[in-house]
Amino acid sequence: MAAHVRCMRTAGFVTSQKLCRLIHTSVLRNKGLVLGLYEPATKGEDFILSKAAADFDRKCSSKLASFVKSSSKKLKKGGHRVLFDNNAGFSSIAVCCVGKMGAGFNEQEQLDEWRDNIRTAVAGGVRTLRSLGETDVEVDPCGDAEAAAEGCYLGLFVYDELKAADKRKAKVTSSCFTEPLIDRYSTEEQWQRGKILAEGQNWARHLMETPANCLTPTKFAEIVTTQLQELKCQVHVRDKNWIENKKMGSFLSVAKGSAEPPKFLEIEYKGSKGENHISLVGKGITFDSGGISIKPAADMDKMRADMGGAACTVGALYAVAKLHIPISVKAYIPLCENMPSGTATRPGDVVTAMNGKTIQVDNTDAEGRLILADALCYAQTFNPQLVLDMATLTGAIDVALGSGATGVFTNSTPMWDILQKASVRTGDRVWRMPLLEHYTKQVTESQLADVNNIGKFSRSGGACTAAAFLKEFVTNKNWLHLDIAGVMMNKDEIPYLSKGMSGRPTRTVVEFIQRLAQLQSS
Ligand code: BES
Ligand code: ZN
Ligand code: ZN
Repeated sequence: MAAHVRCMRTAGFVTSQKLCRLIHTSVLRNKGLVLGLYEPATKGEDFILSKAAADFDRKCSSKLASFVKSSSKKLKKGGHRVLFDNNAGFSSIAVCCVGKMGAGFNEQEQLDEWRDNIRTAVAGGVRTLRSLGETDVEVDPCGDAEAAAEGCYLGLFVYDELKAADKRKAKVTSSCFTEPLIDRYSTEEQWQRGKILAEGQNWARHLMETPANCLTPTKFAEIVTTQLQELKCQVHVRDKNWIENKKMGSFLSVAKGSAEPPKFLEIEYKGSKGENHISLVGKGITFDSGGISIKPAADMDKMRADMGGAACTVGALYAVAKLHIPISVKAYIPLCENMPSGTATRPGDVVTAMNGKTIQVDNTDAEGRLILADALCYAQTFNPQLVLDMATLTGAIDVALGSGATGVFTNSTPMWDILQKASVRTGDRVWRMPLLEHYTKQVTESQLADVNNIGKFSRSGGACTAAAFLKEFVTNKNWLHLDIAGVMMNKDEIPYLSKGMSGRPTRTVVEFIQRLAQLQSS
């Protein structure tokens, strides 16, 4: 067994072998470098250094090339080797395999593999350098600085602020490794865009991960107000009186089981002149116990992330505002807890939504659709060009798609096409689901009211009946409903996201909005 020694630099345990390297390098500035490497075009040939790596190699008398030759025999896409030496001021260099040089759009996978390979390779490299104690890391753009920045910042995300200081991972600052090349400016611009996209997603991850006792509706509203007002967004936090005045009886029926007061967030980003705008709506259940139709205890803690729709909405707005995308966006976020209590809604109760429709609540655990019904009605009173909602709505979408893709239900094929293409680029994919009359019948045949909050064949097609329910509250011709329950969490499927809440599909939504803005201006 390898001897383990406490290391001051990493505040963790390292093998004695590693320690030797660390002692050797500790005189340096804890500065690491990530460089890219492509797989050989054919077997037997050498690995190919990226442009930045080749430039760097020239400066260190081909030390890098010979290191790669000697160490990369079994190196595969996404893997890396670390060179410890004093090379131009870097105490360690992670040489990361980005896969094949010619990788591109993969039709079967509906994925831009080139970009995804870069994200994965860079994330692996920066994590290893962090574990070696580097606190300052420069990253090779690997041919796409935006994807490299995404891999870097998404890969380094951790939620450990509630742990003791010595159990937390060290903070790492990162930057783009750009030589004074002719294209330096645009590379740096791309890096900054990737960084902002990752920051938006990381903010969503952070909010989703935060325990429900620390992130009540009130606290969520406070945090979002502080953050987005700084980015020149207008934020209104509406209280229970306002919600009652708007006659959002469906939303209130969920909130009334909890001691925490509900909030309704209205956020505006004005990126263009005039009244034209798009609407985002996010499910903001800060904790979903199921209410009187209480959930089983196992995994109930994960329901702290049942505000994932709200988190991705504000994460996307953060990026849209920081990137100054020339389009106006309004966001609507109903926030409350779903709890069982003496004041909670009972199965069989009938409530009335803002549009006057009555709803029989046969299962209080199908609460997301109840709060979204009112938020959708309200959003549409401002006549948006498009409405996109995000919600951790059903366990059924997880059964159908797992974490492979977000399930999308839409009445607009042109909008679907744009969203789908956006997701190929971001690697955070979407998959179209049916929005058929077949499912509508199953929610509109209610014994006591206009609609029932669960389908009459309860378990069958659960994600589709939930979408059909929402459709009863939609009049807009460009509506997209994103059921994100399946992609809410990452186990180890997406290599550049660590285990935990994923913040998916924040980057896809930003890319979608950017594409809409481009279409409008052309
Ligand atoms: N928040 C859950 C859905 C969910 C499940 C999100 C797993 C993330 C992971 C939602 O409110 C819910 O409980 N839905 C029910 C609906 C059913 C009662 C018709 C479900 O999916 O079981
Ligand atoms: Zn529920
Ligand atoms: Zn829920």
